[in-house]
Amino acid sequence: MAESNTDTKSSNQMWGGRFASGPDAIMEEINASIGFDKKLFAQDIRGSIAHATMLAHQGIISAEDKDKIVHGLNTILSEIERGNFEFSRRLEDIHMNIEARLATLIGPAAGRLHTARSRNDQVALDFRLWVKEELEKTEKMLTGLIAAFLDRAEEHAESVMPGFTHLQTAQPVTFGHHCMAYVEMFGRDRSRVRHAIEHLDESPIGAAALAGTGYPIDRHMTAKALGFREPTRNSIDTVSDRDFAIEFLAIAAITGMHLSRLAEEIVIWSTPQFGFVRLSDAFSTGSSIMPQKKNPDAAELVRAKTGRINGSLIALLTIMKGLPLAYSKDMQEDKEQVFDAAESLELAIAAMTGMVRDMTVNAARMKAAAGSGFSTATDLADWLVREAGLPFRDAHHVTGRAVALAESKGCGLAELPLADLQAIHSDITNKVYDVLTVEASVASRKSFGGTAPSEVRKQIAFWRARN
Ligand code: ARG
Repeated sequence: MAESNTDTKSSNQMWGGRFASGPDAIMEEINASIGFDKKLFAQDIRGSIAHATMLAHQGIISAEDKDKIVHGLNTILSEIERGNFEFSRRLEDIHMNIEARLATLIGPAAGRLHTARSRNDQVALDFRLWVKEELEKTEKMLTGLIAAFLDRAEEHAESVMPGFTHLQTAQPVTFGHHCMAYVEMFGRDRSRVRHAIEHLDESPIGAAALAGTGYPIDRHMTAKALGFREPTRNSIDTVSDRDFAIEFLAIAAITGMHLSRLAEEIVIWSTPQFGFVRLSDAFSTGSSIMPQKKNPDAAELVRAKTGRINGSLIALLTIMKGLPLAYSKDMQEDKEQVFDAAESLELAIAAMTGMVRDMTVNAARMKAAAGSGFSTATDLADWLVREAGLPFRDAHHVTGRAVALAESKGCGLAELPLADLQAIHSDITNKVYDVLTVEASVASRKSFGGTAPSEVRKQIAFWRARN
């Protein structure tokens, strides 16, 4: 049998029975997707093997033809994996490239593989399989990132840092608590991933061009063989929609947004002015001109990748929004967006996991900063409510005067002499100093989900049991 490369064939030999001439060079260029959809080769071959096996089981093709097809497809799989396969643009896409090669390898039996299917359900299948695998990979990677944060949270359950609102010092919190905020975010991202897997876990193959088929196929059999929960229920919807890809991109965009906020915090924290964390050499770079610099490039690139992922989401939403049912060729443009976003997301999660694991946390710097900016002012106000019976609004006002005094004296609240505090409100006693330290402040915030180390430890245990 001829082993010549498939380049001598073109896709219009496969669909062009009614065409008098071949495509214009520009037509070939705009139409071809092989440059990117070759990524789907393994899914395409898996799908074809399941389809051929079902066709033989149902008596639609012979067992001999099925055996030839399966053997040929496995040969092609290893050719592609070994880099011995020549992809041809004249054959348009991955489906035609593989089918043409199959014909070269096994002859006329190859022509029976496409019975009761169309490229429309074929591409919907291949792409769904690919996105499903990517979601499963994302789920695992998020689990790794959550684990990295749980370790840092445990280590720093007691380390006090300033908590911010408006990026202004607000109240002391613990670094463990701050880490656990990201655990919550990435935990929700992971549950979105799990839901998305559930949504797309239906097999498209057998929807054919759009209307189903008259052949006695068994879609439950192919669904099972391909690891789907069940077949899709509407053949028109099956070949029309790409919401599973958009859902992946939406999840990638939300996860990216979380990663990017973390990246932004790392950029800020690692400045000499903050000095809260020091990135490992493995996740930072130097400057070619300024020898003292250590730049958080990985964090900055995570922040930038997020912009790129957002672009992909908007691109695919826009591609899809005007399409009448069922398939239109516009949908061929779905893949690059998803492939690019998937690559960005994987890199971003991996880089972040590495940074979180490796960074050195400067607890002393954090603690010093936690006490600045009158961060325990709310504790003073709460003390006045609790111990002196003031309404909160009055306590807020009294505390404001104490802050103004401390500011004018250039000291912290805890450094104000008792006489000064009593001049502002006579009910203040020296017991107030117990609540003005940052440690006392965080330890007091024992409300469910609060920053007290005892609470943070409970939340760590909750997530450990689920990770
Ligand atoms: N390469 C095409 C795509 O990605 C495959 C489906 C083509 N179907 C068709 N009827 N032309 O969408």
